[in-house]
Amino acid sequence: MSEAFAAVDVIVAKRDGGELSDAHIDWVVDAYTRGAVADEQMSALAMAILLNGMSRREIARWTAAMIASGERMDFSALGVPTSDKHSTGGVGDKITLPLAPLVATFGVAVPQLSGRGLGHTGGTLDKLESIPGWRAALSNAEMLAQLRDVGAVICAAGAGLAPADRKLYALRDVTGTVEAIPLIASSIMTKKIAEGTGALVLDVKVGSGAFMKTEDTARELARTMVDLGRDAGLTTVALLTRMSTPLGLTAGNALEVAESLDVLAGGGPEDVVELTVALAREMLDAAGRGGQDVAAALTDGRAMDTWRRMIASQGGDPDAPLPTARESHTVLAPADGVLIRLDALAVGVAAWRLGAGRTRKEDVVQAGAGVVMHAKPGAVVRAGEPLLTLHTDTPDRFEAALRDLEGGIEVAPEGSRPDLGPLVIDRIA
Ligand code: URA
Repeated sequence: MSEAFAAVDVIVAKRDGGELSDAHIDWVVDAYTRGAVADEQMSALAMAILLNGMSRREIARWTAAMIASGERMDFSALGVPTSDKHSTGGVGDKITLPLAPLVATFGVAVPQLSGRGLGHTGGTLDKLESIPGWRAALSNAEMLAQLRDVGAVICAAGAGLAPADRKLYALRDVTGTVEAIPLIASSIMTKKIAEGTGALVLDVKVGSGAFMKTEDTARELARTMVDLGRDAGLTTVALLTRMSTPLGLTAGNALEVAESLDVLAGGGPEDVVELTVALAREMLDAAGRGGQDVAAALTDGRAMDTWRRMIASQGGDPDAPLPTARESHTVLAPADGVLIRLDALAVGVAAWRLGAGRTRKEDVVQAGAGVVMHAKPGAVVRAGEPLLTLHTDTPDRFEAALRDLEGGIEVAPEGSRPDLGPLVIDRIA
């Protein structure tokens, strides 16, 4: 097949700071997906985009071209509004687990396509796969049937959805080009728009444990994604939320499922409940079903009932005991005082090192591995009291995990206060 353009001309245009035309973008995304543009050419283009950026028009067109590379799902036959949430990823971020059934309780269907974790942030599918029998892969027909019967589904994206993104994301991962805001925004929004949700709430994390380390870059990413969603006809809202310290008291797959069950039973850590409720309100508002008493559905068991049906519908046993790691090691408070810092990145890397996360896509995660926190910033601690418990099946990993935590924990004299700021920093609509 003769090609409309030469890849090198597209690369040079972006390298020299120019704007790519619609025709350039449509061609290069399609030709890369077909294999007519080589990995080394797309790597060069991705680097040129990282260095020189893209205009709003270019990002929108790039997103449309990636959507067009695969199938587009349609849930309009359900006859109820649909609403989804996407988090840019953080340490201890298990919010999807209580959130999806909670929102479904109010008659809004939640079609949540999720991923597995790579690096220090956990993946929702890895967490749910710690539930005996639970299966992530559903056909489109199974997904639709579960949305009709239960109202919420969390599953893996099928191979037919956005193949261009699948190929490009893997390439960016090994070419130092993941961090380009136009590419992150288009990658995330391609999947959410192709998934067919009617409304979308973005949880854009800010801080050491997040992709975006500063408020400015998080704000720019949020703004770009909200604009892309709007342009595609989705009601889209973003919350900027704190990720300088982990969410909740657990980081690790089965440990986070257990904590989510506490939240669904009306308890759980304050920050996890606060963010779950804030995001549920946004998802319901965006779907036109706002103004409801969201917190009540956590305390009266309605969200738990939906969770149980959601898990059972995908082969999981909601009553089965969760796996636990074979070995544990306790980290003690080094002094009397106030815990003023418990760094998200340090805890995330330690959990990953203990076996909760993977280094390469092919790695198998340990269901029971991770970190349990006994205190959060602001808590008064006494020297020698347990601060963290590390869990793993492979105790030779303790030493490296302890090294990761060095410098991530700070106890200051009594009366000190942590400089944390609010959990929800801003709302971008
Ligand atoms: N998550 C995605 O899906 N894509 C990115 O580019 C970054 C995070």
